[in-house]
Amino acid sequence: MLKTHHCGDLRISDSGKNVTLAGWVQCRRDHGNLIFLEVRDRSGLVQVVADRSRGEAFHAADKIRTEYVIQASGIVQPRPQGSENPNLASGEIEVLAQFIHILNTSKTAPMPLDDDGYRTDESTRLKYRYLDLRRARLQKNLFLRHKVIKFMRDHLDRRGFIEIETPMLIKSTPEGARDYVVPSRVQPGKFYALPQSPQQLKQLLMVAGFEKYFQIARCMRDEDLRGDRQPEFTQLDLEMSFVERDDVLAVVEELVTNLIPAVTPHKRIFSPFPKMSYKKAMELYGTDKPDIRFGMQIADLGDALRSSSIRFIAETLQAGGAVKCILAPGCANYSRKDFDELMEFVLSAGAKGLATLAWTAEGLRGTIAKSVAEEEASAIARITQAREGDLACIVADNQPAACKALGALRLEFRDRLNLAPSDLLAFAWIIDFPMFEWDEEEKRWSFMHHPFTSPKAEHMDLLESNPGEVLSDAYDLVCNGYELSSGSIRIHRRDIQSRIFRCLGYKDEEIQNRFGHMLEAFEYGAPPHGGMAPGIDRLVMLLADEPNIREVIAFPKPASAGDLMLDAPSDLDPGHLRELHIKVSR
Ligand code: AMO
Repeated sequence: MLKTHHCGDLRISDSGKNVTLAGWVQCRRDHGNLIFLEVRDRSGLVQVVADRSRGEAFHAADKIRTEYVIQASGIVQPRPQGSENPNLASGEIEVLAQFIHILNTSKTAPMPLDDDGYRTDESTRLKYRYLDLRRARLQKNLFLRHKVIKFMRDHLDRRGFIEIETPMLIKSTPEGARDYVVPSRVQPGKFYALPQSPQQLKQLLMVAGFEKYFQIARCMRDEDLRGDRQPEFTQLDLEMSFVERDDVLAVVEELVTNLIPAVTPHKRIFSPFPKMSYKKAMELYGTDKPDIRFGMQIADLGDALRSSSIRFIAETLQAGGAVKCILAPGCANYSRKDFDELMEFVLSAGAKGLATLAWTAEGLRGTIAKSVAEEEASAIARITQAREGDLACIVADNQPAACKALGALRLEFRDRLNLAPSDLLAFAWIIDFPMFEWDEEEKRWSFMHHPFTSPKAEHMDLLESNPGEVLSDAYDLVCNGYELSSGSIRIHRRDIQSRIFRCLGYKDEEIQNRFGHMLEAFEYGAPPHGGMAPGIDRLVMLLADEPNIREVIAFPKPASAGDLMLDAPSDLDPGHLRELHIKVSR
């Protein structure tokens, strides 16, 4: 080894030791007779001092620039009194260099690699990701990610799960996105799909009798990128046989509640995780991934305002719509500009408008203050538990639109008013999802989770007659406003699976072509089974307090989905294209 110690590990107790370090020079300060080098390796930083009186080391230090790779030997010594750096774990000591060897030089980095440099334009960060990843913040994130994955593997091993790899070159598994495809050289004109998830394969492993499977699975989906979405991401993919819904939830809940104190002891969680139906979540939070770190639930004002003379309210209720409200504490004295911003926010969230009512020392304020009857205002105050200083934000619209807009506004208040404690991870189970959702563009029912999800046994009769009412045995784990994990009890019978495909409008031939292998497998003693797949990127993002998953992935893609560092996707040479039987037309 070119080093005896790691830079960031040295402490005052190491004083007097002769050490050899190797790493990168984070910064260099020239004080005339002394040159200070902050030397970094993956453990952190330490200060190395080169003294002019020790010719050789000083001579080398003189030539060193930032990001040079060096080896330095010397004695650990306490820093002179007053020059300790409390922000550095090794800040009480420094290494007085006897010898410095330049292992490699470095061009000036295209961006600073300190905290300020973190704010560099993201395309530069991604093009030079191998430099970006030198930042302490990203190193910390990837170490955390490693710990999370290791914990998962060890924990599931202890619980009798077996890790099995499944192929990457497969047939399309529908998960609601487009497939990435790979052309076949040996079968002209045919394509593999890269897995959107190992869904079908893990089910087939249950048919094969493994009973408890997991995999740290790479998934590929050609879909629009967001802060919590990447075209390539990683799931902890799980499947179990002979289970019911609550058995799967218990396995995942036990894993998560053990994992978090082990890897991020500073995070608070509450268990058992509450369970909430999809319907309730949509009503109370306007979303199926509620942030329940704070209250501000959506209240229904329909009954209180049933005979209101306020026109838009009366008309909405008469037309079968809803009047919904959230209460923003302490916002009664919002300025005109604030109100305009809230209005714009609600409009862009798809609602028709926003009415406001505020309780101030001088009486009622807001857009309906003058038109609302006294008893109506008291009823609103009673329902929302409004007190002086509070602001009610009211939306009258069809129920889903009103809840969705107020759900979005609720998150806006969360951020404006700092309502959600950042050390809290508020998990919740969302259950009883609808089996299907209406696809307005295609004018047909489409699956809400994936087509292998089992309808609830008691709703089986409604499959053909009233698909919109059918609930499924699907479940999500949500946390702080993110969907962390999805899963379901699966169909394990051919007849039911065929019915579902038909409900989804697939023709018999298409069913046979796309899913014949699954239907056939179900005829060979497929056991009842179910599973789940927590998204590892999203989980680590929350544990690391990062705003998006790119910060916890070593080599993520930008919005264009291209790789700026490798310059991919790229052209293929004509010979290669010919071999793959592909003609490109642009
Ligand atoms: P689903 O499609 O809901 O379910 O995915 C499960 C979890 O994977 C994560 N996830 C993503 N993370 C980053 N980027 C993406 N593009 C992305 N898409 C999904 C989320 C999500 O909750 N086969 C089923 C699971 C099952 O039924 O067992 C599936 O893949 O955290």
